[in-house]
Amino acid sequence: MSRYTEVKTKLESDPRKWLVTGVAGFIGSNILETLLTLNQEVVGLDNFQTGYRDNLEQVKQLVTRDQWDKFIFVEGDICDLKTCQEVCDGVDYVLHQAALGSVPRSIEDPILTNGNNVSGFLNMLVAAKEAKVQRFVYAASSSTYGDHPELPKVEDKIGNPLSPYAVTKYVNELYADVFARTYGFNSIGLRYFNVFGQRQDPDGAYAAVIPLWFAGLLKETALFINGDGETSRDFCFIENCVQANILAACSSNDAVNEVYNVAFGKKTTLNELFKLIRDRVADVRPSAAAVKPIYQDFRQGDVRHSLADISKANRLLGYEPEYSVEAGLDKAARWYTKNLK
Ligand SMILES: NC(=O)c1ccc[n+]([C@@H]2O[C@H](COP(=O)([O-])OP(=O)(O)OC[C@H]3O[C@@H](n4cnc5c(N)ncnc54)[C@H](O)[C@@H]3O)[C@@H](O)[C@H]2O)c1
Repeated sequence: MSRYTEVKTKLESDPRKWLVTGVAGFIGSNILETLLTLNQEVVGLDNFQTGYRDNLEQVKQLVTRDQWDKFIFVEGDICDLKTCQEVCDGVDYVLHQAALGSVPRSIEDPILTNGNNVSGFLNMLVAAKEAKVQRFVYAASSSTYGDHPELPKVEDKIGNPLSPYAVTKYVNELYADVFARTYGFNSIGLRYFNVFGQRQDPDGAYAAVIPLWFAGLLKETALFINGDGETSRDFCFIENCVQANILAACSSNDAVNEVYNVAFGKKTTLNELFKLIRDRVADVRPSAAAVKPIYQDFRQGDVRHSLADISKANRLLGYEPEYSVEAGLDKAARWYTKNLK
């Protein structure tokens, strides 16, 4: 039996109270769905800055009435300490996802990104510490590797950050580390690598590449590749990311006060990714098969290659990603086809 199956079975027989921040967002709403399916009690916090009420509505449709009744939603901002304190009250595990994503957004408005990702993060740390939660798991980022050239990325070898966003995510790790040493507060950082899947937002100026391309192919709008298409990423399907969060919350004390790569452990170039998405869309919209991407300039702040070594998460958390990029894209394609027509 995998560690994940073991943990889920235990949670079902001994439910816990969880706080998920950023619960109306892509990753948060998927975590919510899994936790409710496991009959857990969940408090969710979001201010809808980039998340959607509809994401919560979709989760409601996917769980039973009894499971949905175990969810309390609080509309509020992590930049307000009092709100953070209220939502942490009586919680066993915090899964902190709320932040402003996107490298380009942070380049355009570093103050806004810093306010949410650093001050908001610090509020959540303080509130979680005061509430004596058992585990504080937070969304860190592969952007912390910055300009470090080595591949695959290993947790203790990082370079200089390449964007304000990357700075904020690294500062999260520094604060978590200082809270461990200063206050004995336990946390776990998960460095996500390009997560994708159902409910990832295809709209807006800062949409990620996978939802953008599904939307472009389904709606027959122009599709762009930044650079020559040989830029690569370690794309990680959302359900692998949810697994890592649940394992981290329920991990042993040996695993705390560390950061872990959360990825699949395989690199895919943008050119390869384009073909994988196009093939899937062509199954439902045959005209997509002939679509070609338009190549444009490289984007500022982007790293050229990204590939994770996931052995630390495997060893200390029992993380075993269940979905390959292809299997994840199959699931994502079904969702985008249904929701984006
Ligand atoms: N998606 C990825 O590939 C990826 C990669 C690395 C790290 N991350 C991190 O994972 C987390 C979740 O990302 P996502 O992709 O689900 O993004 P998302 O934008 O879909 O979700 C973020 C959620 O946080 C909420 N939020 C933002 N600021 C808030 C605030 N001040 N108060 C309360 N709620 C707030 C938003 O409304 C949104 O619902 C973020 O911390 C992000 O930096 C994501």
